Amino acid sequence: MQKPIFNGPPSPEEFQRQLQEFMRQHLPSGNVSSFTRPETSDASEGSHPESNSEVFKFDYKPRDVKAYLDRFVVKQEEAKKVLSVALCDHYHHVRLAMDGKAQPNYAKQNIILIGPTGVGKTYLIRSIADLIGVPFVKADATKFSETGYVGGDVEDLVRDLVRRADGEVARAQYGIIYIDEIDKIAAAPNMNGRDVSGRGVQTNLLKLMEETEVPARAPHDIAGQIQAMMEMTQGRGRKQPATINTKHILFVVSGAFGGLEKIIQKRLREATIGFAASAKTAVEEDLVFSEAQTRDFIEFGFEPEFIGRLPVRVVCQQLNVDDLFLILKTSEGSIIRQYEQSFAAYGIEVLFRDDGLRRIAELAAEEKTGARGLMTVCERSFRDLKFELPSTTVKRFVVTRELVDNPPAELQKLLAEHEKEEHVVMRQLLHEFARRFHESHGLKIWFTDAAADRLVALALEQSKPIRDLCAEKFKDFQFGLKLIAQNTGRKEFAIDADAVETPDKVLSDWVVASYRTEITKG
Ligand SMILES: Nc1ncnc2c1ncn2[C@@H]1O[C@H](COP(=O)(O)OP(=O)(O)OP(=O)(O)O)[C@@H](O)[C@H]1O
Ligand SMILES: [Mg+2]
Repeated sequence: MQKPIFNGPPSPEEFQRQLQEFMRQHLPSGNVSSFTRPETSDASEGSHPESNSEVFKFDYKPRDVKAYLDRFVVKQEEAKKVLSVALCDHYHHVRLAMDGKAQPNYAKQNIILIGPTGVGKTYLIRSIADLIGVPFVKADATKFSETGYVGGDVEDLVRDLVRRADGEVARAQYGIIYIDEIDKIAAAPNMNGRDVSGRGVQTNLLKLMEETEVPARAPHDIAGQIQAMMEMTQGRGRKQPATINTKHILFVVSGAFGGLEKIIQKRLREATIGFAASAKTAVEEDLVFSEAQTRDFIEFGFEPEFIGRLPVRVVCQQLNVDDLFLILKTSEGSIIRQYEQSFAAYGIEVLFRDDGLRRIAELAAEEKTGARGLMTVCERSFRDLKFELPSTTVKRFVVTRELVDNPPAELQKLLAEHEKEEHVVMRQLLHEFARRFHESHGLKIWFTDAAADRLVALALEQSKPIRDLCAEKFKDFQFGLKLIAQNTGRKEFAIDADAVETPDKVLSDWVVASYRTEITKG
C-alpha cells in the first residue's frame, strides 16, 4: 500500500519532492523540476533592484510628515515628531542605498510604540504608510508560534507585504510591517515559568528585522506552489524574484506594556536611594513610559538582541475628554464624518452641535478605550435614529447633548415636532391648492378642518405630495362644481371630510341636488 501523502507537516524538501511527483502524474509533459526556484539572474527582473529609483521615491522632511499626521491624529505630539524623524531617516537611507551610497553600518530605525489601547498607535503608522505610499501589513504578535506550523509564520508577514504591493516584490521590500501586542511575546520571568515560545518568536522576528531572504512562496502554501508551477510550466505569469530581502523593511512593534511602568518606577526609586526623598520617585503615570530604558524592557521579558533592534521608542498618551472632543471635531478621520455620510445616503443632513460632541467625548472617556470609545458611544446614540429616520420625511436634525444622553426620547420628540411642522406646511399647501383652483376655474373652494386633517393623514400615509393627492381626488370637481354653479349660482364650496373620503359620490350627489334646486327655483 502507498504511504499517505501528509503525515504531519513535511519538510520543505520533502514537500517539493511530493509536489513534483504529483505534478508528473497529473500534468502533461513539461519541465516540471524548473518551478521550484525560478532563476533570478536576469538583471531586469533581479530580486533587489537597488538602482531602480522608479520603485521608490521619497523627498519628505520631518515637518511635512508631522503636518500630514496632524490632519488625522490628535495629540501624541512627541510621538508624531519622533516618528516623522525616524521615517524620514529610514526612507532617505533607503534612497541612498538604491543609489549605492548608503553607509555600510547603518542601524535601521525600527520602532517600538508604547501606549494604551485606542490612542492612535496603529492609526499613526497606517497614516504614514498612506502618505509615503508604501505597502503596509499589520498583525498581532500573539498569532505567531515558534515553529510557524501551529500559528502563523513570521515570514508570512513579509509575503503579505508582497500581496499588498500587488505582487511586486521590489515594492514590498520597502514596506512597513506593524506588529501589535508585542508585549504578549515577552517571556516575563516573574510569571510562572518563562514563556519559551514567546522567546522563539522574538528570535524569528529578530532575523527579519536584521536582513534575511524570505522565500516568496511559503513552503506550506500548497496553492501558491501549485500556481507558481502552473505559471512556470505554461510559460505565463509575471516572473518574480524567488526571495524577498528584508533589509529595508521597516518594523514597528507596539503594545500597551502593562506592568512595564512598575519596573520603571522601581528602577527610578532605587536610583534615588541615598538622595533626597523628594527626588523624582513618583514620575507622573502618563510620563513614566517615556523613562523606559533597555534594561526595563529586558526585565519585562524581551531578549536584549530583540529590544536592541528597536532603537526608536515612541510613547503615546492616554486621551482625555478634550482630546476626544477634538478628534470628533477636527480629525479628518473623525467618525462623525462617517455618520454624516451614512445619513446623507438617505438625504438626511446632520448638524453636530458642540454640546453634543462634548457629551459624546465625555461618555467615550468613561469607556477607557481611547478613541475607540467614540465609536461605541456614537453607535449607541445613533442606532435608533439610523433605523427610524430613513423611513420618515425628516430631512435634518441636530445632535445635542440631550440627544446623546437619551436618544429614544429625543427621537420621539424629533418625530412629533417634525409631524407638527409637516402639518402646518401641508395645510398651507391645501390653501394653495384651493387658491389655484379659484384662479383657474373661478370657483372658490375651501377645506373644513376635518377634511384638511384627513387629507394630511392620507398624504403622510401614502407618502404622496398633498398637491398630487388633491389633484387626484378632486379631478372632476371643476366640471361638477361648474354645473352646480350654473344650476344654482353658487360660487363657493366647502369640501368636507365626506368629500375627501368618497369624492366622486359626494360630487354627483351635489350635482343631482343642484338640479333639484334649479327645478324648485324654476
Ligand atoms: N490620537 C488620535 N487622533 C485621532 N483619531 C484617533 C486617535 N487615536 C485613535 N483614533 C481613532 O481611533 C481608532 C483606533 O485607534 P488605533 O487603531 O490607532 O488604536 P491603537 O492605539 O492602535 O490601539 P490598540 O492598542 O488597541 O491597537 C483609529 O482608527 C482612529 O479613528
Ligand atoms: Mg492598534
